[in-house]
Amino acid sequence: MKVLGIESSCDECAVALVEDGSRILSNVVATQIPFHEAWNGVVPEIASRKHTEWIMQVAGEALERAGLGPDGIDGVAATSRPGLLGSLLVGLTFAKAFALSRGLPFIACDHMLAHLYAPRLACASDSELPPYPFIGLLVSGGHSIICKVEDFDRVTVLGTTIDDAVGEAFDKVAKFYGFGYPGGVYIDRLAQKGDSGAFCFPLPNLHKGSHEYDLSYSGLKTAVINQLEQFRVKKALDDESERANIAASFQKTAVDILLRSLFRAAVDTGLNTIVAGGGVAANSYLRSILASRKDFRCVFPPLELCGDNGAMIAGLGYQYLIRGETSPLSETASARVNGFKRKYP
Ligand code: KG4
Ligand code: ZN
Repeated sequence: MKVLGIESSCDECAVALVEDGSRILSNVVATQIPFHEAWNGVVPEIASRKHTEWIMQVAGEALERAGLGPDGIDGVAATSRPGLLGSLLVGLTFAKAFALSRGLPFIACDHMLAHLYAPRLACASDSELPPYPFIGLLVSGGHSIICKVEDFDRVTVLGTTIDDAVGEAFDKVAKFYGFGYPGGVYIDRLAQKGDSGAFCFPLPNLHKGSHEYDLSYSGLKTAVINQLEQFRVKKALDDESERANIAASFQKTAVDILLRSLFRAAVDTGLNTIVAGGGVAANSYLRSILASRKDFRCVFPPLELCGDNGAMIAGLGYQYLIRGETSPLSETASARVNGFKRKYP
């Protein structure tokens, strides 16, 4: 069964074809990075306009690379939540129109569940698939979630950020220091040449009673940005080793914050398999620390499936399809998903 997967929740216009939820036939990702770079962040209006301009061509290329015409498809899946509303609506509306015009089933997918599905696309056989239940670590530009995963669509959020997402902290720090956009990749690269002990940043002190596995990044982000004045005074911004040191020290603390809650959740639930997903799952320091833990089995998506892509949407869509679950064409987009972030009055 071949499913077309469409992803347009943020700044990647992505379409893929996946067979039987596991074999990637094509995976086209058209990134908008050059259009948002000047603003050091995603500009929602530009993002939705670019999706509108590109979606037809990207979908055509995905079909072409898979060697398929529209008749060779069995279902159409698209991200419907969470994300930038205008951007989501472009991919979702395109998917619904495609499904309606070809008489195909349509499946609306949750972007974060799709990130969690991404590592499964890289498993060569069923025996390699991490068995449920496991602990999920979902880390992206908009979310930081530690969850218990009992099926592809049965996720209980154990901990989440109470303020910024981890990817957002990487992006903000990089923006203030002028490291480049998007920040995560640049900080990861710079940090490899730096001393992570050069600066000491505190870990957040959340009240465990109400935030057992929760995360917080606004304090770290502010502490790192506050160093900037010292950097300017010392003229350290032009010094490659000072830049590398601040990047490495920030990255270590950001990842340590994640790991502290993650391991606590894994130990408390008695689950020793951890499955990671989302753009920050590409971080080399996070990957190396988790890979070195012999007491846990850690499963990561390959680097090309960490960021946003259509293959993870097609894979997830297939799972609903074989269960006989499709979405009505009245399905609409939502910017947020209840429970993925803490709500405060
Ligand atoms: O999942 P994703 O592509 O988009 C969202 O759903 O948000 O994640 C994007 C985030 C950005 O914040 C980006 O800076 C971060 O992933 N990122 C990284 C790395 N590569 C991308 N963060 C840390 N280290 C990386 N190597
Ligand atoms: Zn994402």
